Amino acid sequence: MIRLTPVADSHTIDRRIYGQFAEHLGRCVYEGLWVGRDSGIRNKNGIRADVVDALRHIKVPLVRWPGGCFADEYHWLKGVGPERQPMVNTHWGGVVESNEFGTHEYFELLNQLDAEAYINGNVGSGTVAEMQDWVEYMTLDSTAPMAELRKRHGREQPWKLEFFGVGNESWGCGGNMLPLHYANQYRQFQTYVRQYGEQPISKIACGANADDFEWTEVLMARAAGLMDGLSLHYYTLPTGEWHQKGAATGFDDFAWHETLRQTRRMDEIITRHSQIMDRYDPAKRVSLIVDEWGTWYDVEEGTNPGFLYQQNTQRDALVAAINLNIFHRHGDRVRMANIAQMVNVLQAMILTDGARMVTTPTYHVFDLYTDHQDAEYVPTPRGALGPDGDLTVTRTDGAYTISAANTSLTDELVAEFELPASVTEVLRAQVLASAAKDTHNTFDSPDQVALADLAVRVDGARVTFTLPPHAVATVRVGQAV
Ligand code: AHR
Repeated sequence: MIRLTPVADSHTIDRRIYGQFAEHLGRCVYEGLWVGRDSGIRNKNGIRADVVDALRHIKVPLVRWPGGCFADEYHWLKGVGPERQPMVNTHWGGVVESNEFGTHEYFELLNQLDAEAYINGNVGSGTVAEMQDWVEYMTLDSTAPMAELRKRHGREQPWKLEFFGVGNESWGCGGNMLPLHYANQYRQFQTYVRQYGEQPISKIACGANADDFEWTEVLMARAAGLMDGLSLHYYTLPTGEWHQKGAATGFDDFAWHETLRQTRRMDEIITRHSQIMDRYDPAKRVSLIVDEWGTWYDVEEGTNPGFLYQQNTQRDALVAAINLNIFHRHGDRVRMANIAQMVNVLQAMILTDGARMVTTPTYHVFDLYTDHQDAEYVPTPRGALGPDGDLTVTRTDGAYTISAANTSLTDELVAEFELPASVTEVLRAQVLASAAKDTHNTFDSPDQVALADLAVRVDGARVTFTLPPHAVATVRVGQAV
């Protein structure tokens, strides 16, 4: 029995923890989001309508774009105006990038999703002037040259740019820099990310690769005062080895447990980065932004290795739930996370095949978790649901939302809670269960893994429900206040 007691100084879970990431990589942007105005696929201003409808349903709060590694090769001017200039996408399959989807199309996507902007600027191969011009182009309301250019391209008003990332993986694909060199680069480049008008732009410095704690130490020591956020990237690989990561489907029990063990490392990684940040920033002004996370498997057979296309099974649902629970727990420092990536790449919400579209088990977890967005975190003891259980409880408007996961491959898990007062109504009770550990949705069988109603027993203030093996559930109950 888990007693739920709200604590006075608990944190709010920032809805931006449910952020997404869309890179010019494989079929994420082209086909996944953008089909063009003349496409036979239903679209609004070139953006596919089925995908937007599905993403609106899970309340996507913001989208990071244009990369990833692509960001440090992206020259934004090639992607605006009537004459788009193609380029080679050297990181991702060496394909020709048409630049048909650029700044205007990105903001159109955000407009349709009702989401905030998080743009990642180019430090690796770009210039300070280029970055400065881009920020002016997007946010300046005047007759200055960049604002005039934007107007000539059809957008009179500046856009709202909430977040701007200064470089991506600058320790790797973004320039192979050493921490002190990047800290200096960050200090210089961010100077020219200027705020025009009322709307502040939160500046995000490139943070560490997984457990590279030295990177965080140097960045916090040398540049903390000039940043609003520091990023962190950590991917879950079943084997932990980049040269042979493991398959997305058809895996054995060992791979199931290893994947979940690797994903749980996120907790320790965040804890240790946070401890470093706490020393320089005890007031927790600077956010830790996990702007790339998720599973990374060997690509599906017969697909371009540079396109990072992988299936998504019930194991991914458990990975999503565990990571979101970790982010919630660390919500006093972690205020944004961006799963990689939104469509057709890595641990995607959505897969497409031409005109066909399917939502993944990961998508359904994001659906199950929508009530945690901007909710008050209710702490529960570590391991409260036993070794196979994982949990988040939050409170909003007098209602408690309990999301629980069962990682066992064989055993049911009984979850029992006592709330501070009697339950007045069950507002939501759904479970994401599956026939097998690697069940997944395909274009021919799109509902193999789907949400179903869950039976809940309510007895006064007590709430009990049973999770089948390898399942995730959410129960939301109202209370008389
Ligand atoms: O998400 C795929 C890639 O992973 C991103 O482009 C890069 O930042 C990371 O290495």
